[in-house]
Amino acid sequence: MAEPWWRDAVVYQVYLRSFADADASGEGDLPGVRSRLPYLADLGVDAIWLNPFYPSPMHDSGYDIVDYCGVDARFGTLEDFDILVRDAADLGIRVIIDIVPNHCSSQHPWFREAMGAGPGSEARKRFIFRDAPNNWQSLFGGPAWTRTPDGQWYLHLFDSTQPDFNWRHPDVVALFDQVLRFWLKRGVAAVRIDMANTLFKERDLPDLPSASTAAPYYDQPELRSLYRSWRRILDSYPSDTFPGPRGAVAEIWFSDPDIARLYLTKDGLPQVFNFRLMLVPWAAADLRAVIDEARGLVAESGGSMPWVLGNHDITRMVSRLGIDQALIRRPSAALRRGAVEVDIPRGTRRARAAVLLQLALPGAAYLYQGDELGLPEYLAIPDDRRKDPTFHRTGGAAIGRDGCRVPMPWSGNAPPYGFADGPVPTWLPQPPDWAALTVAAELSETGSMLQLYRAALLLRREHPALGDGEMTWVESSNAELAFTREPGFEFMANLGDSPAPLPAGCRVILASGPLDSGRLPADTAVWLDRAV
Ligand code: NOJ
Repeated sequence: MAEPWWRDAVVYQVYLRSFADADASGEGDLPGVRSRLPYLADLGVDAIWLNPFYPSPMHDSGYDIVDYCGVDARFGTLEDFDILVRDAADLGIRVIIDIVPNHCSSQHPWFREAMGAGPGSEARKRFIFRDAPNNWQSLFGGPAWTRTPDGQWYLHLFDSTQPDFNWRHPDVVALFDQVLRFWLKRGVAAVRIDMANTLFKERDLPDLPSASTAAPYYDQPELRSLYRSWRRILDSYPSDTFPGPRGAVAEIWFSDPDIARLYLTKDGLPQVFNFRLMLVPWAAADLRAVIDEARGLVAESGGSMPWVLGNHDITRMVSRLGIDQALIRRPSAALRRGAVEVDIPRGTRRARAAVLLQLALPGAAYLYQGDELGLPEYLAIPDDRRKDPTFHRTGGAAIGRDGCRVPMPWSGNAPPYGFADGPVPTWLPQPPDWAALTVAAELSETGSMLQLYRAALLLRREHPALGDGEMTWVESSNAELAFTREPGFEFMANLGDSPAPLPAGCRVILASGPLDSGRLPADTAVWLDRAV
């Protein structure tokens, strides 16, 4: 049987609010995405993942949802969504949407009803209300409980405007069954499940004994049967717009592979994101270890773990790889204080090598909008323009995620860089010095980051060794990463300080940067053809 499409798809994450603004409101929208479909087709991606576009007061950029089956007017209409799915399919691009089941908006009709109905009411049972809070902290900073005027408290693992659902209530289960069906019928190819590991909490909501213990809101056993039932729903919708089954990818941040094992089951969600490449230092041994870990997990489970180098929650790749790598897991506070030097040229060299690594590894890959332009994190956003609740809930101690969510520069020399027609103020400010990083500028610059992505994606489609499959490490020095894939492909990256010899009898088919008299300079990667 043919492998499902998602096992080697390249998916482009469209951060809708910042992609393209068709109505000159300063925020991106669905017609904006539609107008840029030719760009995405030329880039060579197989699918797009849209961050939430549902009606929302936008306290967490759309992850606070009022109506799971609608489109916020700022982003367009349901009809715009349908047109986008259809036009994307015409270009061979599938559409993936975000499902946010852990919490809704405090403006959701159910939560408003619960607030009005008072303690002990049926309406409150759809959420987690208690007479006294426990010691849990919000993942955005500050307490995870907010007191209501009648003295009860409700749980929110994120912002106070994002109350957690009670997943042991049948109405919640039924709501999301219906939400999945609603969007599957509209032709979505797959869903990305937000915080797929937190839906259930331990029944008696015990205090967290210490910060280092596994929190009682992660990985509860009931998730297993819930995701089995979701898989059955996905499988019951054959597609009419494209071949192959519907997919689902779980957002799970794990450091222990045993946690990933809980989700990588044959009958559960078909994919789990692999964020590990983003969280280890730029060093051959660390990268090799996370690659081996993933290969082991995929082999034993038969599951699929798409590789991720960036998303809307993480410091941009060229900045992350341009800082002291000891800070890689938690750069936020140091970046906020300006306490760390960011070497953008170096980070860019490494990012170029990293994407060649990502796209040469077996399996699927997710690309984050703007990484193909090499956009750096915008660190200088004035505090009063910052939107991320993590910035506000930590009293500014954490810099937050706004810096990786800045509107895309498409053309021109000054903001809004073609993001909208005309001089609109964008919802987050854009830096004044991005003229060389626009799509138009990079399309006409030989060797730009964008040209590298396009060349890599084209080769990946054409080369029989690339996509899903096997790889074999090549014996190399501690500073290098090298592996082969059959037929006839070799990858090599130099993560050391001095140039390394290239293997004999190979032809370079793509390089992340200039070579040094036939040798591979530091922070550079190549794709090689061994069949010469
Ligand atoms: C994960 C999303 O990626 C993030 O952006 C959001 O803030 C949280 N989930 C809460 O929904």
